[in-house]
Amino acid sequence: MLNTNKKIAIITPGGDAPGINTCIRAVVNCAIDSGFEVVGVMNGYQGLIDEIPVRRLDAEVVKNIIHSGGTMLKSSRCTQIKNPAGLSKAVKTLKKNKITHLIVIGGNGSVIGAEKISKSGISVICIPVSIDNDIFGTDETVGFDTAINTAVGAIDKIRDVAISFDCVFIIEVMGRHHGFLAVEVGLATDAEFILVPEIKQDINKICDKLKEYQKKKKTSAIIVFAEGCGDVKKLAKQISHNTGIKIRTDTVGYIQRGGHPSARSRNLASRFGSFAIDLISKGYKNRVIVLHKSEIKSLSIQKVISEKKEVDIETLKLAEKFARY
Ligand code: F6P
Repeated sequence: MLNTNKKIAIITPGGDAPGINTCIRAVVNCAIDSGFEVVGVMNGYQGLIDEIPVRRLDAEVVKNIIHSGGTMLKSSRCTQIKNPAGLSKAVKTLKKNKITHLIVIGGNGSVIGAEKISKSGISVICIPVSIDNDIFGTDETVGFDTAINTAVGAIDKIRDVAISFDCVFIIEVMGRHHGFLAVEVGLATDAEFILVPEIKQDINKICDKLKEYQKKKKTSAIIVFAEGCGDVKKLAKQISHNTGIKIRTDTVGYIQRGGHPSARSRNLASRFGSFAIDLISKGYKNRVIVLHKSEIKSLSIQKVISEKKEVDIETLKLAEKFARY
């Protein structure tokens, strides 16, 4: 029977990540089982501001999407949600459609938009989905594992070239302002150096090490470079200039955001999606779902946006330990 007190809308703002569709599927199926009506908002927060008609979601619509990349609800970057005029238009659209609960499937920026909407009286639940894994409180976001594997696959191939040609590559991975993705990718690819924005790099140290490598006949190396560190080409030039070693650069790029979600990303998406409906059924409001030490829980949106997630220094140290001649 339909529970007429609750009408849920799902929105997928910001950068997409593998596992969003899996998550939409989980939310829709669990919501229907609980008797809630579910609709989808197209194009992220921009769709609310532009009053794009919402789309009714049911088991038929979300059939056979568990493995597909991207987001069936599409997305956009929307800065207007942060200003009062944009926010008020978005809230008006939600109220016009009689939405009582909004489920935001997205990353850091999406949580900030969600916090603003939550002040309107509409209850908001955020499901952390992002390749950057930069949301406070959760050990992992949906899509992170897939992005790691995509970048690792690409870097393994570049490593073949580096070994064959005795050369040094600096490879840029995504992660926005953080190095969470770079750290995991660096450890998994046995990178000689991992550069992350959270830790100031001593270029002279890298240069000295590369020269030392060359003396000891280690002629290839991989430097994993998180995009938040700045200009990869500039760094390559600097290192080349200081060492006389030719440095090649490459970027893994948007393939990290697309493609089939890994089993781990899918299963996390399904668990988070189901938990979101549990929270709504139990009357919880304005929460972010998190995975903490293998347990799924929720934190208040306020807490999540006011705290900062730290990069894992121990993993960086471990990767450093393995870099050898
Ligand atoms: O947040 C996901 C992400 O891919 C970041 O890693 C990257 O910095 C950013 O989005 C790129 O965004 P855009 O789609 O605006 O180019």
